[in-house]
Amino acid sequence: MTSPATRAAQLREVITRHADAYFVRDEPVIPDADYDALVRELRDIEREHPELASEESQRVGAPASTVFSPVRHAEAMLSLDNVFDVEELRSWSERVVKGLDAAGLDTEKLLQFAVEPKIDGLALSITYRDGHLVQAATRGDGRVGEDVTNNVRTIANVPHQLGVAHGVVEIRGEVFLSKADFERLNDHQRTSGAKVFANARNAAAGSLRQKDPAVSASRPLSFLAYQLVDLEDRLSLGTHRATLAQLSRWGFLVAPETQFVSGVLAMIGASTWFEEHRHDLTYDIDGTVIKVDDLNYRVALGATSRAPRWAIARKFPPEERTTRLRAIEVSIGRTGRATPYAVLEPVLVAGSRVAMATLHNEDQVREKDVRPGDLVIVRKAGDVIPEVVGAVPVEGEARGPAWIFPRTCPECAGELRRRGEESDTYCVNPTCPAQQMQKIVHFASRGALDIEGLGEQRVAQLLAHVLISDVADLFRLAAADLSELEGFGELSAQSLVAAIERAKDAPLSRILVGLGIRHVGPVAARELAREFVTYDALAQARLEDLEAVEGIGPIIAQSVYEYARDDESRQRMARMAAAGVALFEPRDSALGATLQGRAVVVTGSVEGYSRDEATAAIVARGGTSPGSVSAKTYCVVVGEAPGSAKVNKARDVGVPLISAESFEELLATGSWSATLE
Ligand code: IVH
Repeated sequence: MTSPATRAAQLREVITRHADAYFVRDEPVIPDADYDALVRELRDIEREHPELASEESQRVGAPASTVFSPVRHAEAMLSLDNVFDVEELRSWSERVVKGLDAAGLDTEKLLQFAVEPKIDGLALSITYRDGHLVQAATRGDGRVGEDVTNNVRTIANVPHQLGVAHGVVEIRGEVFLSKADFERLNDHQRTSGAKVFANARNAAAGSLRQKDPAVSASRPLSFLAYQLVDLEDRLSLGTHRATLAQLSRWGFLVAPETQFVSGVLAMIGASTWFEEHRHDLTYDIDGTVIKVDDLNYRVALGATSRAPRWAIARKFPPEERTTRLRAIEVSIGRTGRATPYAVLEPVLVAGSRVAMATLHNEDQVREKDVRPGDLVIVRKAGDVIPEVVGAVPVEGEARGPAWIFPRTCPECAGELRRRGEESDTYCVNPTCPAQQMQKIVHFASRGALDIEGLGEQRVAQLLAHVLISDVADLFRLAAADLSELEGFGELSAQSLVAAIERAKDAPLSRILVGLGIRHVGPVAARELAREFVTYDALAQARLEDLEAVEGIGPIIAQSVYEYARDDESRQRMARMAAAGVALFEPRDSALGATLQGRAVVVTGSVEGYSRDEATAAIVARGGTSPGSVSAKTYCVVVGEAPGSAKVNKARDVGVPLISAESFEELLATGSWSATLE
């Protein structure tokens, strides 16, 4: 066991190193959430052992660097205390009420709060004397910052004049890059061979703290104001709301999403709104800042040496964390594709537990150079698919050997082969049990026959008991076969058999999707089924008949032609027909009730559709489009800047997530060829 004193010393050392990387060099090594966790741990130790108290745990930023002249702030630039969930937020508001009570203020009425986005940028204070911009300084350590006046003058949305003279005022806020500007900047960096920034915050900080103002000027920085320090007490502003209105009149950008609310419940609601919409905003936020609106109340509450008592930052669950990479393994899909994935020490990322993350293919593993045993950064990209960003170098820690893509299939020991120029690797053994299982899982999935209760686990169980070895065997299962198996009761056996029975009447187009014929996605399946109506007619079609179908090119035609003539598939289809599978496309299903009775939730924006148009398109096809996700939801369409709550809920209850690109396909066919996970 490490003693608290030793651990505290270790933490101080690490925190100082990371603070330097973040605040001085603008090149953080670990995600913010990990840094916060280190500071928290140190504070907890110091709380239990006050004799160990130190400055590091109270750090506000870092000492100013030597490149810029120092500026002493007329009034300290404080930091904010953080809370990480609703309960802590509630406790903070209770402390506020107690503090106001103690000061003899009336707390009968509902308290007014401002709830603002917590912009992930760089704090800045701009001084105006008699209406003229005279100085701009970074926060530095809170008392002394860096003079960046010349650089700030180049920021397009910073007013140089305030119109009316008001003595000396300082306008404080955040310098940041919008998401779009950040993307553009990085594209430019990439094409000109310059350094690509890891995120918008680093890019903003690096761009502001440039020796040459011309470089700053070339970067699309913005400034958002959230505080006014009236050094000569000339303005009589009573509330934060009035302050922001004044700032806005002077021409400053203030956060348009700011909400003014009454009472703790509404305050928590507003803060949660930001969490759900964080990806809809045009800039990155890592939480919300909640402030007491009444400026007199603020005076009564005061501040500690580090942070005001009248404001609090509620940090959202982090989207990036570091964790250990335990191993790299390979999974085999239904087409035999071998996908490497990371087995991780589980971490909470963006609110859900991540223990695995895809590594896509052999080249990606090599590019990212991640090795088993490494400390790695895990990110939920666009809030959907967890991925490994890269390794974090740990000083003094020897790394293991680079990972080598296996030559043989982990499931069947058959050969793994890379085809020509493709970056994907395949198991080429057609009888590989993993491929067989995935084929059956796909056949039963929502995108195909939608057989309820037939997921991966059950398919594996049926295969293990040799009750099935092919999709055609499903239609011969009897409830009596199943009720013997572990985890099945009389009822669940009957309901699975009933679900399979219903699938016998599925339109031919869905069967074609379920068969997983190479190159045949839902759109092609629908065209083919519409044209030939029965599987027999399709199987007898000549190559040129197939090619003549609208939307069917030579590659798809050839693939279907070969499938129909393959011995194994002929047997499969004959057995399905004998078991009573219709293999028939009803005429009317061609016309579009593709989503009859299905609930499709849309989150984020889908290109070509407004929110209302997307809903209308779903309803026109017999579906509904509710505002929230439940276990009954058919699928969730994930557009640009999706809401994390919906995505997380879908993942929790096992509803498929599909990309906005699949929306047309969903409307046309009622299904999709690829899910996001
Ligand atoms: S108010 C004394 N409001 O977050 C109160 N800060 O972690 C000063 N920040 O130092 C801060 N958005 O750099 C405030 N709407 C907002 C903010 C905000 C981002 C930054 C700011 C602050 C840091 C604290």
